[in-house]
Amino acid sequence: MFGTAVVVVAGCFSGSSNDTPVTFHKDVEPIVQQHCQSCHSTGGIAPFTLTTYDDAKGKAGVMVSMTQSKLMPPWGAQETASCKPRMKWTHDPRLSQAELDKIQKWAATGALEGDPKDAPPPYTPQLGLSNSQMELTPAAPYTVTVENNDSFRCFVLDPKFAQDVWINGSNVIPGNAEVVHHVVVFTDPAGESKSKSLGPDGGYDCFGGVGVTAPSVLMAWAPGMLPQEFPADVGTRITKGTLLVAQVHYHPHGAAGSGGYKADLTKLQLRFNSGTPTWALVSALIGNFPKTAPNGDGFSYDKNDPNALSSFVIPANAKDKTVTQRFAIPPVINNKPTPPLFLYGIGGHMHWAGTHVDINLHRLAPADNEPQDECLMGIPQWDFNWQRIYHYDAPSLDQLPSLKQFDQLTIKCTYDNTLDNPKVAEALKQQGITQPKNISLGETTLDEMCLGIFQVVSKIQ
Ligand code: HEC
Repeated sequence: MFGTAVVVVAGCFSGSSNDTPVTFHKDVEPIVQQHCQSCHSTGGIAPFTLTTYDDAKGKAGVMVSMTQSKLMPPWGAQETASCKPRMKWTHDPRLSQAELDKIQKWAATGALEGDPKDAPPPYTPQLGLSNSQMELTPAAPYTVTVENNDSFRCFVLDPKFAQDVWINGSNVIPGNAEVVHHVVVFTDPAGESKSKSLGPDGGYDCFGGVGVTAPSVLMAWAPGMLPQEFPADVGTRITKGTLLVAQVHYHPHGAAGSGGYKADLTKLQLRFNSGTPTWALVSALIGNFPKTAPNGDGFSYDKNDPNALSSFVIPANAKDKTVTQRFAIPPVINNKPTPPLFLYGIGGHMHWAGTHVDINLHRLAPADNEPQDECLMGIPQWDFNWQRIYHYDAPSLDQLPSLKQFDQLTIKCTYDNTLDNPKVAEALKQQGITQPKNISLGETTLDEMCLGIFQVVSKIQ
């Protein structure tokens, strides 16, 4: 009797949902607003808008392929057979299976408009850091001149800190959202960037890094991202005299018209902790080791792995070759025993030949509630154009993945140095080169890197 009733109800439900047409205004527009319009709207970085029914109707087919392939919205940290992080990410923009299915069904059933009365209220993106206390801009606006070509400019920003400060929040506001593709903000503790040969904008051309000693990453920004806001008791210490360098990736997409692009003046916003916070957040770039150190850290070569490279040289025309970098958490940091560390955010960094990066952790003596081995993050379709720091969604800071002394981090980078890799083909073409060449470790477009970006927090003693 009960069983029969369930069958009837289920049949009834599936019947009615099959009959209700999937329409743009009712089903697809809310998804597009939430997940696409931060870039696909007038003045955004994407090459076309997805704001009206007509926009979306014309793109229905590619919307399906780009969402199903997980290429849109851009979000590198995906779960794969080799990497399933145990925590979720904060502000994860990815579509749920139900949302993916809706777009697909909408496209497959004639991409109907539906009733405009069903449309969600207009979308207003959050712009700006709440309680921003400082805004820094380059010395003068910068105009992109290379049409349809990527370029990387580093702007020196001087916050004029006369004493050490604690940064609790940061955000980037692009001056011209049509051309600013993404921004990575580095620290320059010794103030070296000031002596580069700077243009009138206070900037210099740069690609892989900022070319100063011991930089760390303050933040990585891409369109549609919320400001980086730490909890009130977390801050990053910046020593007095430190300069900040904003590395802006420009990506003009050919829609400027005859007058060219408007100049860009990208702004960095900062917010400070009031006093010393409870937790210090430090970021470290780990990797790019050319050799193996006596303790086994550094470049790691596994003779039994046919894909492993025996040195940091990616031969011309090599595909799926890997470089592995190891780093054990040192027992002493800054002359003090290493305190318990917790991993707050993580990212990877390679150049154009990179295709996949996985970051793993092996714990020497795991606590009961933590695995001995875990994959911290994997980016299976590496895209230099979408670099981010991914933040774990943990209920409290001490429930983030822990890192203790001698625990071992492994960063495994995979490369495709063939013309089948469109990014390599394009980078070579821009240099007027027709065939792949051996790639070694370095900072320029035709060099490579293998880095992990780690934001760790520890209690201030
Ligand atoms: C963070 C910015 C951003 C977000 C969010 C975003 N896109 Fe895109 N999209 C781009 C950019 C930029 C391009 C141009 C190609 C590139 O640079 O990767 C693009 C290209 C595309 C293309 C064209 C691909 C091709 O090869 O023709 C489609 C289709 C697309 N996006 C759909 C979507 C959909 C659907 C969503 C939401 C579910 C979305 N995008 C979210 C920035 C974004």
